[in-house]
Amino acid sequence: MTQLFKRKPIAELVIDENDSRSLKRVLGAGDLIMLAIGAVIGAGIFGAIGTAAAGQVAPDGTVIRYGAGPALIFSFILLGGACALAALCYAELAAMIPQAGSAYAYSYATLGELVAWIIGWDLMLEYAVGNVAVAISWGDYFNSLVRGVGIELPAWLTTGYRTALLSSNPDVSGLLTTAPHILGIPVLVNLPAFGIVMLITWLLLRGARESARANTVMVIIKLLVMALFIFVGLGNINPDNYTPFAPNGLTGIHHGAAIVFFAYIGFDAISTAAEETINPQRNLPIGILGGLAICTLIYVVVGGVITGMVPYTELGVADPLARALELIGYERVGAIVAFGAVISMSAVLLVFQYGQPRIFFAMARDGLLPAWVARVDQKTRIPYTATLVTGIVVALASAIGDAAETYDLTNIGTLFAFALVCAGVLVLRVKEPERHRPFKVPFVWVIAPLGVAACLFIMVGLPYHAWVRFGWWLVIGIAWYAVYGYKHSKLRQQ
Ligand code: ALA
Repeated sequence: MTQLFKRKPIAELVIDENDSRSLKRVLGAGDLIMLAIGAVIGAGIFGAIGTAAAGQVAPDGTVIRYGAGPALIFSFILLGGACALAALCYAELAAMIPQAGSAYAYSYATLGELVAWIIGWDLMLEYAVGNVAVAISWGDYFNSLVRGVGIELPAWLTTGYRTALLSSNPDVSGLLTTAPHILGIPVLVNLPAFGIVMLITWLLLRGARESARANTVMVIIKLLVMALFIFVGLGNINPDNYTPFAPNGLTGIHHGAAIVFFAYIGFDAISTAAEETINPQRNLPIGILGGLAICTLIYVVVGGVITGMVPYTELGVADPLARALELIGYERVGAIVAFGAVISMSAVLLVFQYGQPRIFFAMARDGLLPAWVARVDQKTRIPYTATLVTGIVVALASAIGDAAETYDLTNIGTLFAFALVCAGVLVLRVKEPERHRPFKVPFVWVIAPLGVAACLFIMVGLPYHAWVRFGWWLVIGIAWYAVYGYKHSKLRQQ
């Protein structure tokens, strides 16, 4: 038992910058806020917001989740509050332990090796699985954009196998028989989703500085597009659309929050850049909290505007922002917003494809994953092998996967990680009260427990199938630790 919960001393977590196995410090506070916005505003606000407002019904008529209606704005406020609690806790740990592994590294120091492994494993749901959902959503927007200029890609090259398998739409499920077959297996691949992930991976392999620069350009475009949507929407609000305001009461707000939580994921991702941040003790809290504050503000305004533009029942589509503009007669602006969505989601993909290899890198450096994963390229000083392997695996999963299936799994995994981070802050306050904390959570005995409770509350709003899959995911992770990590852990070998 003591072995399983062995904690890594924090001194060991602070890496020597001149060590050739470490990463290069190039990012400032501004870069971090840009990275946070880059990670946060994406498929959630461009896609999931529609389901959150309108709800979701299964093909047989059973309700999967109730819609929030115009009260969606309360879902956003609730989530902003919950994420702020978690963000404060992330900021304390990130400033104290500025290491590439994010929540994984913090829990190694606070809750011990087994919990750290579970968190690291869990973070794959947030980063890699989350990116599968974003890549597929990217592909949907990309297809409608190219269709707009008269290019029609064959459906079997734009639809993943899982999507065809799970769809209740006969046009989509029919692809299982009409698509070309090889050895009796239908060839159904989402080529755009595959392509964008590989392109992003190529960009990341060029180095952190270059990636941050590309991100900044994409973030500026996404902020302009959000501003355009708000500007046009504000001038076209019909107050009648706000009645009924909360058609499904608190349940609708709760269920809406559980899915649109996806829109908030990512402010924490910049903590994976800790080892590449200049003066991380100061810049990480600014980046995490600043990024979250800006995004929350934008979401509350967008939520209020979109539900005022059109009846909330019209929003249950893959591209609700563009659809709302179309419905009020602004097709061209709708097309610009769709273009903005493609750019925004590219930025999300970039930050998450950046974060995942750094978590793998940290886990491999600790011996919990094979050593080759931690290989750093001597010229660019980035975790080259982990970046490449992550890119290929996410690209392949995006080619055959289904977006809806991956949203809920990403949310449940991320909320679980947030809850553990909040708990970790308290554990460390008790175990190492004297340790220097460049940033301290105010009223920690209120904020951290509230953070845990808020995350668990949002998790409860997710459908049953998400819990079952999450359970299986944890079982597989623990099995890997039992057969590999336990034996190879560097800490235990010491
Ligand atoms: N928050 C990110 C998005 O909405 C993951 O795409």
